[in-house]
Amino acid sequence: MKFKLLIVDDEKNIREGLAASLEMDGYETVCAEDGNEAWKRFGKGDIDLVITDLRMPGLSGEELLRRILAETPGFPVIILTGHGTVENAVTAMREGAWDFLTKPVNLDRLSLLVKRALANRELILQNRRMEEDLGKPRQFDNIIGRSAVMRKVFDTVIRVAPTKASILVTGESGVGKELIADAIHEYSPRKGKPLVKVHCAALSSGLLESELFGHEKGAFTGAVSRRRGRFELANEGTLFLDEIGEIDQNIQIKLLRVLQEREFERVGGEDTIETDVRIVAATNKDLRAEIEKGNFREDLYFRLNVVNIHVPPLRERKDDIPLLAAAFLKEFTLEDGKSIEGISEKARARLFAYDWPGNIRELRNCIESAVVMSQGTVINEDDLPPALRSAGDDSWIRIPLGTSLDESEKIIIRDTISFHRGNKSKAAETLGIGRKTLHRRLAEMGEEDTETTDEETESGES
Ligand SMILES: Nc1ncnc2c1ncn2[C@@H]1O[C@H](COP(=O)(O)OP(=O)(O)OP(=O)(O)O)[C@@H](O)[C@H]1O
Ligand SMILES: [Mg+2]
Repeated sequence: MKFKLLIVDDEKNIREGLAASLEMDGYETVCAEDGNEAWKRFGKGDIDLVITDLRMPGLSGEELLRRILAETPGFPVIILTGHGTVENAVTAMREGAWDFLTKPVNLDRLSLLVKRALANRELILQNRRMEEDLGKPRQFDNIIGRSAVMRKVFDTVIRVAPTKASILVTGESGVGKELIADAIHEYSPRKGKPLVKVHCAALSSGLLESELFGHEKGAFTGAVSRRRGRFELANEGTLFLDEIGEIDQNIQIKLLRVLQEREFERVGGEDTIETDVRIVAATNKDLRAEIEKGNFREDLYFRLNVVNIHVPPLRERKDDIPLLAAAFLKEFTLEDGKSIEGISEKARARLFAYDWPGNIRELRNCIESAVVMSQGTVINEDDLPPALRSAGDDSWIRIPLGTSLDESEKIIIRDTISFHRGNKSKAAETLGIGRKTLHRRLAEMGEEDTETTDEETESGES
């Protein structure tokens, strides 16, 4: 059976040109000259793929895309876009378009895109049938988590993995960004192809450039032979760019070009190399802030961040702690040959009380060291690292890194007052300031209240 493609463009020449070319590839084609006509035609239910212009009179390409995806999630739609409107195409990708091409359309590229999109559609349909058979959503093997926030993350992974959209994985250090990147590759049609990882912060700018794009023999001192870069190695697969916030302006420009043109040259080389790579980037930096500071290009940010997957810190999903702790405990007791059966009630309370600034990596290390420390059959409070033993203990004040001096002062004042159960004279004494100063600070903080009279009495006594 021939695949049937719907081509939508208000320019007759383009419609017919594309149709002729795709028919030579063996597809059946149907044309529509605007969104309304296309939507009607789509309704017949026999179309396998849609190629559409964005700007058209009447129903726009964006609206057509929205309707199609609302009715048939995952349906392959390829966007055609004029040169000035690439941003719109990026927006369309975010909404679920399969891919886009700039006009004038490169027919070879179109042919390749259509082939891949159709192959991928088959895969999605197969997966969906499998899921329906099993009657439940797929599980992630390596990623533990049942909290509502993590389920949302998993849903997004499943939804966007099959597309080609670039994904930016954000989140604090140790939250599991790399595991998410692995899952994206695993659940994409690129699964059988390479997943290549580059740790951008680990290399100097020059080395990173030749690492990514490769180099020709003699390109620089030490380049004794031609070397293929990671973009070439990852062809048809996924390229994971870790710590993308660390790359300098020179590399940023080069990356932008590959993302836009899907081609590059090796360092010191003249041949232009085409590449078909799906990019997943990760960062624990706030790239928006880096853009404000002029450290990161906004255009590159938009290209990388077609879809954002934010992995929440562990303190915002504490209900995942027991599950994670149990899994790590199992892993390390097996490794150590110890027979530890569980975690004591008190130790568990500590795990909950703690803020986990180092997130899951820290939890994993913590359980690993507790297993080493443990002498009995359960992990006790005393087996935990010192930072945890003081967690939840109200004789400590914890201030997250990144807090301003002004805000830190407020936290110290509030916590000291509450430690003295509201007795401000004692709090002032502990803080080493006069009562009047404390009152003034509280007034500035907008927290001075009617207790002043009590304070006055108190002071009268002392
Ligand atoms: N949900 C999870 N289930 C099981 N293990 C996890 C989970 N999340 C993270 N880990 C483990 O925690 C460690 C840190 O994860 P990962 O390297 O993916 O973090 P990251 O976000 O990339 O951190 P960084 O920004 O420091 O590179 C790894 O050992 C990983 O296997
Ligand atoms: Mg990482």
